Amino acid sequence: MSAPVPVVTVDGPSGSGKGTISRALARRCGWHLLDSGALYRLVALSGLEHRLEPDDIEGHARLARAMAVGFEASTDEERICLDGRVVTDAIRTEAVGQCASRVAAWPQVRTALLERQRAFARAPGLVADGRDMGTVVFPQAPLKIFLTASLEERARRRYNQLKQKGSDASLSALSREIAERDERDVHRAAAPLIAARDAVVIDSSGLDVAAVLAQVIELGRQRALWA
Ligand code: DC
Repeated sequence: MSAPVPVVTVDGPSGSGKGTISRALARRCGWHLLDSGALYRLVALSGLEHRLEPDDIEGHARLARAMAVGFEASTDEERICLDGRVVTDAIRTEAVGQCASRVAAWPQVRTALLERQRAFARAPGLVADGRDMGTVVFPQAPLKIFLTASLEERARRRYNQLKQKGSDASLSALSREIAERDERDVHRAAAPLIAARDAVVIDSSGLDVAAVLAQVIELGRQRALWA
């Protein structure tokens, strides 16, 4: 039997920087990347487009099983497709994020996405970014990171991101929305946001991307995942 594909899991709350760190790590190692939050966002967007009732659990689970998704990444651009259309920006709105957090609380939707997520583990390795990568989807991963940052810092990062894109944003509204999403992600019964027992917790408040990345690379080196 061939050796299992190595997986590094990066879990944490909204705005903790896990997307940025995961992308940078995958690029550095030449590994694949799973943005699992994007999958929940795709289910949410698909539900909105199909005009499903917000509480139609089975309908959303059906979409989660049936939707055709595509992730393409070049050096400077990433394209996410849903049923043949590019939806890279459409899934990033705060409204779709809130809706994703709601559908992600339903076990039927989580189960529908489980094998899809595991299929991303292909040689030479995978960096898996999400909320339950280390606890549920890849419990055998040899390196699990749980990235956190204070609510203020996370709201400020999101604010700066939106400003850079030219979007209008209010820091206090963002802070409220992130706190609301945290509350739901942490307290749901199915796969709540929690650090795996064997995860290394990194608080990125006050650290830049390079400093966090350096810590993760060192942890991988200690586990002989890379030289
Ligand atoms: O990381 P994100 O903001 O793109 O995720 C959107 C929502 O999806 C988030 O509020 C919770 C949910 N999610 C989840 O429940 N499990 C994951 N592995 C990833 C995201």
